[in-house]
Amino acid sequence: MSTIYNLSRLRNFITAFAEVLDTNPTESELLDEGGKLLKQLVSTDDWLPAEYALPHPQYYQQYLLHADSRERFSIVSFVWGPGQSTPIHNHTTWGLIGMLRGSEFSQGFEILPDGTLAKNGDDIQLSPGTVEAVSPEIGDVHQVRNAFNDQVSISIHVYGANIGAVKRNVFAVDGTPKAFISGYSNTHLPNVWDRSAELRKAE
Ligand SMILES: [Fe+2]
Repeated sequence: MSTIYNLSRLRNFITAFAEVLDTNPTESELLDEGGKLLKQLVSTDDWLPAEYALPHPQYYQQYLLHADSRERFSIVSFVWGPGQSTPIHNHTTWGLIGMLRGSEFSQGFEILPDGTLAKNGDDIQLSPGTVEAVSPEIGDVHQVRNAFNDQVSISIHVYGANIGAVKRNVFAVDGTPKAFISGYSNTHLPNVWDRSAELRKAE
């Protein structure tokens, strides 16, 4: 028996998100409007195909789900194995993080004038349906970890660029930056554009 995934949710999100960008919003309008759309997307966990929800025993996974044809935005599923965490890192563009399954913690950091790092705000816990934002304007450096040591967690991220190909940094705890290009864990994308099943059903 194969599971049917409701990929139309992702397709509709892509379309609606591109429409928001077409209005040339300010960053805060975009994070607000786009955040509402992402909240809607991650409030139902019936659409992410299993191959984009697979953890790796050693590394957290970042699967590309969609890249805008003009690379104005990209959508990834971020899959945490039990106990996995990111290094401290930046994004250099806006990002929205929506929790789909499980839970994660995000601790923000600020870079002080002397180049060292200081914690910025609380360690925020995200639960399914919660959305958080990052950007160079509002705080771009954080460290994220699976809240669970015994289960997989998955969040859906939207970024203002083709994030896997962005030159950015990871930071040592003393603030020393190291160049970083994340890439993606997958080579094939989900086919969100096959509407044939819906059309046949409607016949
Ligand atoms: Fe991040």
